[in-house]
Amino acid sequence: MKLPSRLLAVISVAAIVASACSSNAATTAPSTAPSSAAGGICTMQAGATPIEAVSWWTTGGESSGFNAIINKFNCDNPTFFVTNSAIAGGAGSVAQAALQNRVLAGTPPDTFQVHMGHELLDTYVTPGYMDNLDDLFTANNWTTQFPKGVLDIVSAKGTDGATHYYSVPLDIHRANVLWFNKTVFTANNLTAPTTWAEFFTVADALKAKGITPLAVGDNGIWANGMLLEDVLLAQLGADKFKGLWTGSTDWASADVTTALTTYAKVLTYVNTDHSSLSWDQAADYLIPASAGAQPKAAMTIMGDWAAGEFDNKKFTDYGYAAAPGGTGIYQALADSFGLPTKAAHKDGVKKFLTLLGSAAGQDIFNPYKGSVPANTMAGNPPADAKQYSTYQKWAMGEWKGDTIVPSMEHGAAAAPSWKGAIETAVTSFVATPDVPTLQTALVAACKDAKVCK
Ligand code: GAL
Repeated sequence: MKLPSRLLAVISVAAIVASACSSNAATTAPSTAPSSAAGGICTMQAGATPIEAVSWWTTGGESSGFNAIINKFNCDNPTFFVTNSAIAGGAGSVAQAALQNRVLAGTPPDTFQVHMGHELLDTYVTPGYMDNLDDLFTANNWTTQFPKGVLDIVSAKGTDGATHYYSVPLDIHRANVLWFNKTVFTANNLTAPTTWAEFFTVADALKAKGITPLAVGDNGIWANGMLLEDVLLAQLGADKFKGLWTGSTDWASADVTTALTTYAKVLTYVNTDHSSLSWDQAADYLIPASAGAQPKAAMTIMGDWAAGEFDNKKFTDYGYAAAPGGTGIYQALADSFGLPTKAAHKDGVKKFLTLLGSAAGQDIFNPYKGSVPANTMAGNPPADAKQYSTYQKWAMGEWKGDTIVPSMEHGAAAAPSWKGAIETAVTSFVATPDVPTLQTALVAACKDAKVCK
């Protein structure tokens, strides 16, 4: 498969379910027998060992997917019981700080969601907070089942000089996707813009009809930071974009100035209430309140967890394309789970991680989530299970053929502290859009990250 080495080339350089069984279920009276078949919800058995999994998956498609795979585990392993202690806040904007505090305090959850790449390695692996999972990777043949580029960003060299694996990849998401309401586009003779220049033409046409062009929900500023990444990617192209995160592309360059000027213009086409909305509330602006009604907005740009959101809301009238300027470029990120050294229930976690990494497990979770499976053996759910959507089938092809670049906002491209500095600059820019001020802050952030001189 050509993908692995390309992902490696890109990302490693940068280095890079309560389910309906919810936490409430832990207090539910133990059932006499778990029911695994036909979508039954398995409850906690008397004497079962609780396994606490922390994620930030609280919205429809996200929690449904995680709940489904957790329930599968709980049904098949009645001596353990996994709960999803989810902390709301898209992209881990709240969960990540809480997780770091718990890990530092020596009271981590048994396992937790973490992005592959810098977020995993810089925050948890390098300081020694995670057990290696070499035995699981060997026993399950994962070293041949996950793409090499993925393996490279869940692993690190130990003091013994050998490579060790530290987390189990569950999904691959694409960050740079444009979503649009098909009926609105057809009614106005519009097609998905493939460049930012086309975007402005489409947006002007929508504005002239009184339709908000672009829905943004940046009550977590990461969603706006993703827009910045999109315009940088379009202006610079894949190689120079990657160079931003390795020090080979100059943040002070004229190209970056042009991108930031474009970014400022994009922000003039968004909904006025963006700062009070979450990412999923903004995505929902594409869904008409009733059949035939005008949706609140025509487009949104968001990672493909938006596909999970639309599917969960039974909204099918959406089209998709690469974000402007991103055709043929897959901006990738991935969620994974590991084993904290101080986890209380390691045996159960290892069993749970075994399911998360398996092709069968990934084909339970990903069809809900909007992502493509990380395990290359997955992609064929049983006929009676939830199937991959039309969008996901398209994404599987793109993932194999596109140029891969890493996501800054979702932990792959930059260290968490660098991401934080960029988000501070973006927050100021959204309030007062001044291109030189933003560019100066971005130049400084790269220096502070010790990636730029
Ligand atoms: C990303 C995460 C996705 C999705 C999204 C919105 O960081 O990787 O799985 O949850 O945030 O919450």
